[in-house]
Amino acid sequence: MTRSISTLISAAAFALTALPGTASEATFETIKVEAGAQLFEAECRRCHAVDADHESYGPPLDNVIGRAAGSYPDYDYSVALEASGIVWTEAALRAWIEDNAGFMPGTKMRHVGIDDRTVQDFILAYLASITTRDAKAISE
Ligand code: HEC
Repeated sequence: MTRSISTLISAAAFALTALPGTASEATFETIKVEAGAQLFEAECRRCHAVDADHESYGPPLDNVIGRAAGSYPDYDYSVALEASGIVWTEAALRAWIEDNAGFMPGTKMRHVGIDDRTVQDFILAYLASITTRDAKAISE
């Protein structure tokens, strides 16, 4: 009897850990990356591939976090971007997504103006997921 109650309790405890309300940090990250992929699809993909194998009007954005601006091999950047001397930290990318033309006058990327911080977070989570450097280690 005692034994079956304790079996029941441990079964209930197991069931609890599997409830949706107990989603882990890793689950949140996966959801953010998936949302970011869809937002990237809607806002960025028509101009940006995410690898060198695909035709891309803008520079491909794989490994962009931590990359020196204007450094994708053989891409014909504007002078403004090529000479900017910045590195694409998450903070720089946030400013760029919010107001690229204001952030860097002279860029040839058409203005995007995504000022919703949550949308920025999702797009950044997606860009981090296609970056092989440790994106978290790159300063804000
Ligand atoms: C209408 C086309 C277009 C859209 C839409 C667009 N971009 Fe761009 N993007 C460009 C072009 C063109 C450049 C090169 C700009 C330059 O050389 O001044 C660029 C450059 C960049 C760079 C600099 C990369 C490097 O190698 O230095 C980043 C980062 C970037 N875009 C991110 C984004 C993100 C994120 C989105 C979506 C929110 C987006 N872009 C939407 C055309 C676009």
